[in-house]
Amino acid sequence: MRLAVVGATGAVGTVMRELLRKRAFPADEVVLFASERSAGKVLDGLTIQPLRDDTVGGFDIALFSAGGSTSKAWAEKFAAGGAVVVDNSSAWRMDPDVPLVVSEVNPDDLDDARKGIVANPNCTTMVVMLPAKALHDRFGLTEMVATSFQAAGGAGQKGIDELAAQVAPLAEDVDQLVNDGRAAARKVEHSVHANTLAFNVVPLLGTLNEEGYTDEEMKLRNESRKILGLPDLRVTPTCVRVPVMVGHSIAVRATFARDPDLGEALEALREFPNLLVEEAPTPLEWAGRDETVVGRVRRDLADPKVLNFFVVGDNLLKGAALNTVQLAELVVDRGLVGSAAPAA
Ligand code: A2P
Repeated sequence: MRLAVVGATGAVGTVMRELLRKRAFPADEVVLFASERSAGKVLDGLTIQPLRDDTVGGFDIALFSAGGSTSKAWAEKFAAGGAVVVDNSSAWRMDPDVPLVVSEVNPDDLDDARKGIVANPNCTTMVVMLPAKALHDRFGLTEMVATSFQAAGGAGQKGIDELAAQVAPLAEDVDQLVNDGRAAARKVEHSVHANTLAFNVVPLLGTLNEEGYTDEEMKLRNESRKILGLPDLRVTPTCVRVPVMVGHSIAVRATFARDPDLGEALEALREFPNLLVEEAPTPLEWAGRDETVVGRVRRDLADPKVLNFFVVGDNLLKGAALNTVQLAELVVDRGLVGSAAPAA
């Protein structure tokens, strides 16, 4: 089994490499790829390769986390060379010939990888999908109002670095933070996040469309519909960046076809694989954890068909690298390696 890791030097790629080791992924050979900037450097005792037509053939599985444009340009070439590609970018997620899979939610969709490509959902969508599926199976989900609190690490290593660099300069002058926040915000650089993120909350994550929603918010709606197999699911998303390094949280107001009983809802959540229930989970305390955790589960004050809850997951682990590796494991277990239909 030859395995490629594309984007091996990035925030998600680094966690992928750790997980492959930790979970003893059955690869005989691992080849790491990154940009031309990193080619030739040594990581885990392996020399990083550049993406070139003569380096991408002959793999069984390729894990991609190198951004959408790299996936668009190279995933089909790996697939044509015989690999099943598990792609963490947004490039292929809505392609009807590419399954979009959360390992605990819709693993059977893996059999529909007609291009030899499988897509990993957006890190925020991923975290919501576990409780949404658990509750949908009991009560029939019809609508979600989802407001995210997304960590800096959702923007990759550069997102983490930008937040880290802002904290100390702003913390030096607490008086300014309290009395002249605008001046404090201007004291540091930002280019990854839409505003200074340290000591702040930034309600703009991605590019706005004509209707006033960001691409990140549209991913939450469109990907939820595809994963849950509910094309008409009503979703109202608001995506917000918060000064957390790693760990996305989402407050969800979920409406169901049947009145949800709270005890039955908690039972469904507790029984769902890799999902835990706690009273009030926080992202800081959840960084580094494989499981997703849901808390503040309560009936709506006004509408008997509604449950409100708060869900937290490590965006680099379950939100990205862990699900990618889980999908690769499922691809192996289901005998899909070598069976991918190469791209035309
Ligand atoms: P590099 O470190 O050489 O730039 P992150 O999501 O943390 O920003 O990481 C992005 C990953 O994708 C890194 O491993 C980065 O490699 C890789 N990458 C970025 N652009 C390209 C490209 N054009 N070709 C291959 N890999 C790329």
